[in-house]
Amino acid sequence: MAATPQAIKLALMPGDGIGIEVMAAAERVLEALTQQHKLAMEWETLPWPSTSWHREHGEMMPEDALSQLRDYHALLLGALGDPGPSSDAKRYKLPDGISLAPLLTFRKGLDLWACERPARLLPGAPQYLADERAKDIDMLVIRENSEGEYVNQGGRLRPGSEDEVATQLEVFTRRAAHRLIHHAFERATERLKERENNGTQKDFLCDEAGKQKAQVCLITKRNAQPYWGEMYTDVFEQIAKDFPDIGVHHELVDAACMKFVQSPWQFDVVVASNLHGDILTDLAAVLAGGLGVAPSCNINPADKHQPALFEPTHGSAPDIAGQGIANPTAMLLTTAMMLEWLNLTEPAEQLRQAVAKDLQTQKNSDQKSRSTEEVTQAIIRNLNSMS
Ligand code: NAD
Ligand code: IPM
Ligand code: MN
Repeated sequence: MAATPQAIKLALMPGDGIGIEVMAAAERVLEALTQQHKLAMEWETLPWPSTSWHREHGEMMPEDALSQLRDYHALLLGALGDPGPSSDAKRYKLPDGISLAPLLTFRKGLDLWACERPARLLPGAPQYLADERAKDIDMLVIRENSEGEYVNQGGRLRPGSEDEVATQLEVFTRRAAHRLIHHAFERATERLKERENNGTQKDFLCDEAGKQKAQVCLITKRNAQPYWGEMYTDVFEQIAKDFPDIGVHHELVDAACMKFVQSPWQFDVVVASNLHGDILTDLAAVLAGGLGVAPSCNINPADKHQPALFEPTHGSAPDIAGQGIANPTAMLLTTAMMLEWLNLTEPAEQLRQAVAKDLQTQKNSDQKSRSTEEVTQAIIRNLNSMS
C-alpha cells in the first residue's frame, strides 16, 4: 500500500490590528484552494503572539513558542503592534519593542536569514509614479534578516537623566554576508532564466560592463560606515566572479532611495542590510501599488526544513484597524509565496492569477476603495471560476 503523504501543517498567527482582518481572508482562500486541489493541508490558528495574549498572560507568547512552531511546515503571520483603533486612547497598547519582539525572535530563532520582498507593479494596482516606465517596475529586494542593525545589543545608561547614554550595537559577519549575497546572485540567475523563457528580456545599467540582462545591486552606506560596507563590497565582488551573466551595481542607501523613486525600473535584484532593507521595502512597496499589495517572506534558503515565516510587509495599521477596509491583497500574495515555498506550485499560481485578475478588473472600474470583504469575495470568485 502506498504511504499516505504526510499532511502539510500550517500555523496561522493573526496577531494584532488588521493582521486579524487579513488573516481571515487568507484562511478563506486556503479553504477554497484546499477543496479545489484536494490538498493534504491543515492548519491551526494560534492566539499568540498578540497584544490580546499579552493582556491576558503578561507576555506576547508562551515561553516555549519557538519549539511549538518548529512542529509546523510553514508559519503565516498577520501583523504585530498597536492593536488600534487609533481613535481609542484607552486601548491596550504596548511599546513596539515588546509587541514586535516575537517577530525578531522568530526570524533569528528559526534561522530565517533572508527576507524576500518582491516589488512588481501588477496591472491595475495603484501607480503612484507618473512616468510611463513605472509600469515596468519588477524588482526583488533581499534583506539580511539575522543580524546587522537588529542584533538588539546595547543599553541605556542612567536612563531618564540628562547624562543618559544609549548604545545600539550593529554586528555584521562575513558568513551572513556571504550566504545572503550568494542567494541574491542565485535569485538573479533564476529571474534571468524566467525572462528568457517568457521572452521578456530587459536591460539594466551595471557598473563597468554597461547594460546587462540581469543585475544584483548591493546597497550600503560604506562612505560613513566603512567597516561593514567594505566587507560586504569584498564579498560581493568575490561572489560576482562566479556569476558572469549577472551585472553588478552598487548604490549608497541615500542615493538608492532617490533612484528607487526616479528610475526604479533600473533595479533587478537588490541586496541590503536588515535596516536598510526594511526602509527600502516600504518605499518599494509604494512603487508597486502600496503596502496593501506588498508581500514578504522570511526564509532559510539553505534549509527548507526550517518552518519559514510568511507575513505581509505592512504592520497592524491602527489607523484603519477594525473598520473592515484593510486590503487583504498583500496577505494573499504572501499566502501564494508560502504555497510556492511548500512546492504547491499550481495553487500558488492560481492564487496569483486570481489576485492579478482582481486588480485588472479594478483598473477598468470607478470604484477604487473596497472593503476587505469585497476584495476577498472577488478573489475567491476568481479562484472558483478557474477550477
Ligand atoms: P503600517 O504598515 O501598519 O501602516 C502604514 C500605513 O499603511 C497606514 O496608513 C496604514 O493604514 C496603511 N496600510 C498598511 N497596510 C495596509 C493594508 N493592508 N490596507 C490598507 N492600508 C494599509 O505601519 P505603521 O503605522 O508604521 O505601524 C503600525 C504598527 O505596526 C506599529 O506598532 C509597528 O511597529 C507595527 N509593524 C508591524 C509589522 C509586522 O508585524 N510585520 C510591520 C510593520 C510595522
Ligand atoms: C517589517 C517591520 C519590522 C522590521 C518591525 C516591525 C520590527 O517593519 O517587517 O518590515 O523592521 O523588520
Ligand atoms: Mn518594515
